[in-house]
Amino acid sequence: MWQLAAGVKRVQAILARPGAISQSERVEVILVLDQMLAAADELGPDGVSSNHPRITLSFGRFRETLAIARRSVSIDPPRYYLVGNLSGTCLACHASE
Ligand code: HEC
Repeated sequence: MWQLAAGVKRVQAILARPGAISQSERVEVILVLDQMLAAADELGPDGVSSNHPRITLSFGRFRETLAIARRSVSIDPPRYYLVGNLSGTCLACHASE
């Protein structure tokens, strides 16, 4: 979970930089997303240590959104919309700060 939180912060920091997103920044974003996917997989198919079926269900959806976000950055032209909104996907389980 902490890795997910750190990943969201990192991609947001990259996207927040002034100017267009460069090729190296794009690679950076993909790298962070890969780490987040790995972290999500490490949490397991059940996502989090929870016996709550709804938590399990929405974690699967969260992981899918993460995978789609990664794909949309790797295609041409890249789309950053989903990546920019990743923090919104956390709200499925966490109330907004
Ligand atoms: C499917 C539900 C779900 C989603 C989606 C989710 N979380 Fe969590 N999160 C939990 C649960 C449940 C816990 C507490 C249980 C645990 O620690 O495993 C938790 C704990 C945390 C913690 C506390 C540290 C820890 O490991 O206990 C942080 C930080 C956190 N989440 C951040 C995030 C961020 C950032 C996102 C989005 C990128 C996110 N979470 C998405 C369910 C979710």
